[in-house]
Amino acid sequence: MLLRVRDLEVCYRRPGRRSGPVTAVHGVDLTVHRGETVGVVGESGSGKSSIGAAVLGLIRPHAGLVEFDGRDITHCSRAERRELARRMQVVFQDPYGSMNPARTVGDTVTEALRYNLGLNRHEIRERLDRALDDVGLPPETAGRYPAQFSGGQRQRLAIARALVMEPEFIVCDEPTSALDLSVQAQVLNLLAGLQQSRGLSYLFISHDLAVVRHLSDRIVVLRAGRVVEHGPAETVAVEPSHPYTRALIAAAPVPDPEQQRLRRSARRQALSKESHP
Ligand SMILES: Nc1ncnc2c1ncn2[C@@H]1O[C@H](COP(=O)(O)OP(=O)(O)OP(=O)(O)O)[C@@H](O)[C@H]1O
Ligand SMILES: [Mg+2]
Repeated sequence: MLLRVRDLEVCYRRPGRRSGPVTAVHGVDLTVHRGETVGVVGESGSGKSSIGAAVLGLIRPHAGLVEFDGRDITHCSRAERRELARRMQVVFQDPYGSMNPARTVGDTVTEALRYNLGLNRHEIRERLDRALDDVGLPPETAGRYPAQFSGGQRQRLAIARALVMEPEFIVCDEPTSALDLSVQAQVLNLLAGLQQSRGLSYLFISHDLAVVRHLSDRIVVLRAGRVVEHGPAETVAVEPSHPYTRALIAAAPVPDPEQQRLRRSARRQALSKESHP
């Protein structure tokens, strides 16, 4: 087992309020095996990113355990985190927000690499070229600037930035949510291909069950910080046992308005059954 999250609790203080902290994640358990993709799905505010952030050490969990490759990393030091960055990376929804527009793509993609691994220029260039090639961008991309790229290309750059570290595990937090459907499919296929060629494991976070299903071996459904359902991707996506999961499926937009109407009404029914069991 590569990643194990047990009984995770994440709380946030509310600035300027007297009331106590809000609990965003309540006792969540999940595991990711080597080479596997585990999808985390739930509506906005259900705590998906909080789980990702706790796994990556970007926030401190209130309680619970995060284990990576058999080691407790719940409260590890900065130095240990830097070390872990070789093995664990992240791809976020909005890579542009984390790219300095004044720096070249090559500098941006290799930044963590240059600070962390003590490689020489030649080795850095090799890793950069390989990562760009892996995400389908030509080597001359390196000399250009983030603004010169489309949203889909920037998402490829964000993936390249994770790949140069040669990680084993990547947290993908809504990596395709800002993209048009056709571009979204390309990026998902790219991630699937990279998983095969590089033997990666993913924790794949999205509000969109169809997207999660596309990539995941198993799916965890989150609602208001709690796991309401988990299981093999096909089971969860096709025969969900929890009304909330059925509601998520019904909430996905479909091109046919009549279908859409039927699904919406199914969703309302599912939700009302749930609140009045
Ligand atoms: N830094 C923060 N400070 C205070 N509250 C926060 C903070 N980050 C998240 N929250 C709250 O924690 C809950 C879970 O948020 P989180 O971002 O994990 O959800 P999410 O499922 O990723 O949502 P989205 O789909 O919108 O990204 C929400 O109620 C949110 O308002
Ligand atoms: Mg989020």
